[in-house]
Amino acid sequence: MRIALLLLLTLLNCSKEETGSPSKPDTALATPFASNASNITDNSFTANWVLVPKAESYLIDVSTSNSFSTFVTGYSGLEQSATTVEVTGLSSGITYFYRVRAKQGTEITNNSNVITVTTTGVQAEDPTYLKDKANTLANPFFVGVAVKANQLTEGSSYDVVLKNEFSSITAEYEMKMNPISTGSGSYSWEAVDKIVNYGNNNGINVHGHALVWHNAVPDWLSNFSGTDAEFALEIKKYITDVVTRYAGKIKSWDVVNEAVDDNGNMRNTIFLQKMGSNYIKDCYQWARDAANAAGDTNLLLFYNDYATSTNIPKQNKVFTIVDDLMTSNLIDGVGFQMHNTYLSPTKEQIETDINRAVVLGLKIHVSELDIQVNQNNDITYLTEERSLAQKEKYKEIVNIYNALPEANKYALTVWGFKDNESWIPYSTDLNHPGNDWPLLYNNKFELKKAHTGFLEGLD
Ligand code: G3I
Repeated sequence: MRIALLLLLTLLNCSKEETGSPSKPDTALATPFASNASNITDNSFTANWVLVPKAESYLIDVSTSNSFSTFVTGYSGLEQSATTVEVTGLSSGITYFYRVRAKQGTEITNNSNVITVTTTGVQAEDPTYLKDKANTLANPFFVGVAVKANQLTEGSSYDVVLKNEFSSITAEYEMKMNPISTGSGSYSWEAVDKIVNYGNNNGINVHGHALVWHNAVPDWLSNFSGTDAEFALEIKKYITDVVTRYAGKIKSWDVVNEAVDDNGNMRNTIFLQKMGSNYIKDCYQWARDAANAAGDTNLLLFYNDYATSTNIPKQNKVFTIVDDLMTSNLIDGVGFQMHNTYLSPTKEQIETDINRAVVLGLKIHVSELDIQVNQNNDITYLTEERSLAQKEKYKEIVNIYNALPEANKYALTVWGFKDNESWIPYSTDLNHPGNDWPLLYNNKFELKKAHTGFLEGLD
């Protein structure tokens, strides 16, 4: 028995000697364990972790990146002795990350696990003005918006937003033939004058939309009783009078809009029927002649259409028309309307489409940008998920446009201000089945994530 006891004591003594320091206590600090945040508000939260025996203090890191590449001001190795810390001065709706180390004397442990926490409230969107950021680019371009004359009253909310955010305007309706042309040689200029004067007086580019469009034929021309030749003369007269009146004031015109149908054929419009297959070239020639006669040799003539990124037969026909116009130097740019959805077209489809104009050395106008998020009517309000998807799609197309060569840049125009004023919700033209929120500002004229996406596309 005594031998066994002696043997046991010897073994214990050896085990201590194996450690090399039989009397020295184990002082290695344990790495802390961080636990979930508490007291989360719009701009603060409490970070928590488990006490580490023998720790004299803790070092806390807080970041908006889980790689801790940057730190929230004041929270980079913040040292304190308690096992919680109130993290303050934060932004609402933002995701933060924190971790902690224990310290005793000069000994500091490794980092703890990382805790993720998102402050409450809605993240305030970046208030940077779109044109301000666009104008800082190496190759800037116009940031445009579709307007109505009655929005342009001095001091109106539209007037304020427009002058802050945009550098180009397109009339959503009032520069079309049907509101202007009241009869042969008679015109209603008031709304057009207001829009043109607003742009010219405020250093804002004015894009003319659209001289010839089958959806904007005034009744007196739809019911025209004269010969086809007389009809053609009326169109020539209209184009000549409008282009002449605004020579030097309107910088670019959609001379013909949507001349190609969804099957990739010439759309069977009243213009094709009465003026023949050369009508497009005739219209561009009349516009060019009128501008030159008025001394405006800088007027840019555009062809404008929709869905060419996804409808290849249509895309091919459009570029057949564009090629033909180019042979006579009658076209300077192509307008891609871009009435898109949060799912379509893809980046590759858009780039393939637009690049066909880039290689021709033409100006590119993304002319009527809006991005539907409810084309299938499966939501009843703008969900966070669709809002983020829309933001990414705005960012994507702005990024595509921003990457264009300088020679091809002209303008990127969004088709309206507030969601509830967009043509899209419940649109019969579009067969849209429900509500939608396609633009950059919500119904209260507040910035949406889409506006932030536009800004990020300019990076
Ligand atoms: O201003 C009149 C008002 O006085 C009248 O009481 C009322 C009822 O008839 O009509 C008002 O005009 C309407 C106009 O928008 C202004 O709001 C027209 O009826 C209506 O047809 C017109 O719709 C425009 C549509 O083109 C047709 O011109 C949309 O706002 C506009 O977003 C839409 O834009 C087109 C582009 O030009 C071409 N690409 C497709 C795009 C969407 O259809």
